[in-house]
Amino acid sequence: MKRRTFLNWGTAGLGTLWAAIGVSLGAVVRFLTPSVYYEPPRNFKIGTPADFPFGPPTFLADEKIFVFRDKEKGFAVASAVCTHLGCTVQYFTSDRRFHCPCHGSVFASDGAVLHGPAPRPLEWVEVTLARDGQLRVDKNKVVSASYRLMV
Ligand code: FES
Repeated sequence: MKRRTFLNWGTAGLGTLWAAIGVSLGAVVRFLTPSVYYEPPRNFKIGTPADFPFGPPTFLADEKIFVFRDKEKGFAVASAVCTHLGCTVQYFTSDRRFHCPCHGSVFASDGAVLHGPAPRPLEWVEVTLARDGQLRVDKNKVVSASYRLMV
């Protein structure tokens, strides 16, 4: 084999090796980067105050929240996630309580545990009025059961 031919083959081999390393590193980076985020947003808008009636709470299934609107007290938002194992609770107007269909926990209308196995009250989360006039809910900010937004 001539020296020139040998060097050409060596250069081509090194190029192929570097290309293979580059592709492998790209595959590793791609593997380590999640392509789908399953966690829904925790800070979102839910509509204008006029979208919510007075009286029984409005359940928003996608956000798993109950929106309460009271003429004197204003707006409050409760998480619909049971504090036992995370099932979605339901609100019954007949007894004005939250009931968990999974293991039978019962919560008062203020979220307090009336009947276990839920270890903690339902969470109340912050609701504010955004500049565009919509209600904004931030599930990252847990507030007391007495928190209200007057609009
Ligand atoms: S998840 Fe609600 S009682 Fe178990």
